[in-house]
Amino acid sequence: MSNGYRGGMLGFESNRPFRYFQNSVDRFWNPNEISFDQDRENLIEAYEGVSDEAAKQMSTVMKKLLGMFGAGETSVTEDIAPFAMAFDSVEKQMFISSHMYEEAKHATLFDRYWSEVINAAEEAHGHEVTTPNDDRWFCDEYEQLFDAEHEATERLLEEDTPENRVRAYCTYQLTAEGIIAQTGYWGITENFSDHAGTEVEIAGDTVEIPRLPGLVEGIERIRSDEGRHIGFGMNEVKNHVQNGDVDEELVTSTIERLLPLTIEIVNYAYEGLEDPTVFPIGPGDAAEFTAEKHQERMRQILDDDGDIPDVEELVALA
Ligand SMILES: [Fe+2]
Ligand SMILES: [Fe+2]
Repeated sequence: MSNGYRGGMLGFESNRPFRYFQNSVDRFWNPNEISFDQDRENLIEAYEGVSDEAAKQMSTVMKKLLGMFGAGETSVTEDIAPFAMAFDSVEKQMFISSHMYEEAKHATLFDRYWSEVINAAEEAHGHEVTTPNDDRWFCDEYEQLFDAEHEATERLLEEDTPENRVRAYCTYQLTAEGIIAQTGYWGITENFSDHAGTEVEIAGDTVEIPRLPGLVEGIERIRSDEGRHIGFGMNEVKNHVQNGDVDEELVTSTIERLLPLTIEIVNYAYEGLEDPTVFPIGPGDAAEFTAEKHQERMRQILDDDGDIPDVEELVALA
């Protein structure tokens, strides 16, 4: 852990992006050190004695969730560079360097999971061996959301204005990271940790939801990193609104245009099931969580007495 250093020469101490950078350094974790052995064993066991059709429906949900998450982490890794080009303060540059590095770690974790757990379970049962970037795991709305993110960040290279920065934060940190990713991480944790062991009826068969401790541990680490990324975006947007650089309508309209996409993406993940509500946490619960997250963020950003949580609170977000 840290020796308590919090800067001294450049006024770092009072600077939020610098504090976030320090928090990232203090909380370093290695995605290659998380063990997936138990996950592999549990997933192989979950498909034992289960019909091919039931196993296929169950594994399709998992592959869509993991495929979209892995690709999402790769997209945010690719799309972050324009922020670094646009920023003119060293503290924000420092923070963005940690943000980019962390996204690359998140992408690695999902990539490893596919080959070490998903492929291993497929091979063990003689199922088709799949890849995480297969078109089957993605819907049009997913492509639209990440196209919007790419365009919003790239626009900063052409025209770096307060409006364009706010559009980029609202698309990247507040929607892609703040809403869709948080919803998915919550759903995965609930289903494969808190509700693991639940027996569900799929295609006339009884399937036990496997406990996936490595995935859940990885996601806990990722969510903690995301707390800083989202907090940074929220703080930047709040400053622009409070300084009068942009109208708050730009914030709400940018996010509200993307919200229906996030609902469709969640629905798509469960679509392969005959009965999409069969998981303990299904599309309806996820939609509710999405709406709550959105409202809470808007209050923190737009209300005069709304506060961006402190960094320790952000990284501990439940
Ligand atoms: Fe991430
Ligand atoms: Fe992130």
